[in-house]
Amino acid sequence: MSNSDLTTPQYDFAVVKQFTVMTIVWGIFGMLVGVIIAAQLAWPALNFDLPWLTYSRLRPLHTNAVIFAFGGSALFACSLYVVQRTCQTTLFAPKLASFVFWGWQLVIVSAAITLPLGLTSTKEYAELEWPIDILITIVWLSYAAVFFGTIVKRTTSHIYVANWFFGAFIICIALLHVVNSMAVPVSLWKSYSIYSGATDAMIQWWYGHNAVGFFLTAGFLGMMYYFIPKRAERPVYSYRLSIVHFWAIISLYMWAGPHHLHYTALPDWTQSLGMAFSLILLAPSWGGMINGIMTLSGAWEKLRDDPVLRFMVVALSFYGMSTFEGPMMAIKTVNALSHYTDWTVGHVHSGALGWVAMITIGCVYCLIPWLWHKKEMYSVKLVNMHFWMATIGTVLYIASMWVAGITQGLMWRAINDDGTLTYTFVEALKATYPYYIIRWVGGVMFLGGMFVMAYNAWKTIRGAGQTSTDAAAQPA
Ligand code: HEM
Ligand code: HEM
Repeated sequence: MSNSDLTTPQYDFAVVKQFTVMTIVWGIFGMLVGVIIAAQLAWPALNFDLPWLTYSRLRPLHTNAVIFAFGGSALFACSLYVVQRTCQTTLFAPKLASFVFWGWQLVIVSAAITLPLGLTSTKEYAELEWPIDILITIVWLSYAAVFFGTIVKRTTSHIYVANWFFGAFIICIALLHVVNSMAVPVSLWKSYSIYSGATDAMIQWWYGHNAVGFFLTAGFLGMMYYFIPKRAERPVYSYRLSIVHFWAIISLYMWAGPHHLHYTALPDWTQSLGMAFSLILLAPSWGGMINGIMTLSGAWEKLRDDPVLRFMVVALSFYGMSTFEGPMMAIKTVNALSHYTDWTVGHVHSGALGWVAMITIGCVYCLIPWLWHKKEMYSVKLVNMHFWMATIGTVLYIASMWVAGITQGLMWRAINDDGTLTYTFVEALKATYPYYIIRWVGGVMFLGGMFVMAYNAWKTIRGAGQTSTDAAAQPA
């Protein structure tokens, strides 16, 4: 028995393994629904006149599946892995962790049944009806207990920065979910928000924007802070910067929500406040990006033959790009052009595909060999192929949506000398059509890459490739 076997605790990786596998499964499911709705926008007959397959029902199914099922599983897997490794201890209450896994799967399956049936609270990213909301709260509090319980029983004196990001993500999502979901049930599957009018809109977008800030950003930054230094075998570029941008991000995000409600009934000063905070957010967002990218300084040559690291660096580049674009779109005059257009959808997916999905894929490619005691993935060539499919797919998606969005914005606002509109709505729609097809092609490529990943993961887990000891595969 080696020395490291004596000192390394026997970590609880069962739940981590389950969530890792489900990240791939739900990724394929959510993106498949994305490809279907992208096709429906180009060829509307694809709803087959069936209510369950209408765009309006499948769109929230897509957003819930990719954010909460795919992104959520990745966050659970990575946070429960990282917290054990960096705290040098086993999970607090592993049975509760198992409940978190099964409870979360129940939430996802309930969403996949109720949304196509048209059961919805109508609040974006919070569509699920009240019984499911209560289940989410119970599962989330259990997750918080497991995560923070593990931090409390740590054997290290320090709490590594990745755990700060995970911790903030867990606390803030609990707060956002409970406050935004407050509703009065009128039957088992119908409830009404306790808020009304402009207050309801304000609360909803305080939630919506912070779902971006904490679900789609803070948690994934936590992943970035563990997996990039590990993979690059370099310490974090600046630990001080990681702490500074952590506090800046969590204190600024909370105020930026009103940029989703420019030119609405919301008081004007709140819109300006949201715009100002969004502009300031650029600085800490870029602080995180620069810190991640600079961690590779001195190790750039690794990018040449490690496609996993390439996934992570490209993810950071898209993170930088979308957090530059976001503050620009938050400027009221820019938003007057971009709002309601496909530019927003392009922005969303430069964050969602470019940042969230790419960093997730990179982390999962690290985790699979580590968890199943293999030296590497079954085929690094296939990882490389996946990298190119994902990158080209993302570029096709977002570039087509930028062009479509700006075209729409300009056509809608074009006015003749006599004050009449230059273009009808249908003319703008016709101009958009080719871009919808390009977006669909990009989506198919991205989804295709996920199938390649599933095959590679299956072969790796099923035992092909060399095995290694846990300590050799991933030194603590
Ligand atoms: C194969 C990959 C994907 C395809 C083809 C796809 C396609 C789509 C389509 C067609 C829409 C509706 C746009 C509209 O209403 O005009 C949409 C919305 C959305 N998707 Fe995706 N998607 C993909 C992956 C993802 C991923 C991985 C995420 C998140 C991690 C994501 C998050 C979202 C969000 C948040 C929206 C709502 C955007 C908004 O309201 O402005 N998507 N997606
Ligand atoms: C500094 C960072 C960011 C700022 C200031 C920002 C700002 C904005 C603005 C102004 C909009 C358009 C609102 C509208 O006209 O309706 C928007 C939409 C959106 N952004 Fe960002 N963004 C940032 C980063 C990100 C990132 C990294 C992601 C994804 C991971 C993301 C996801 C979204 C989503 C999902 C929407 C669409 C919401 C909806 O209407 O359904 N954003 N963002």
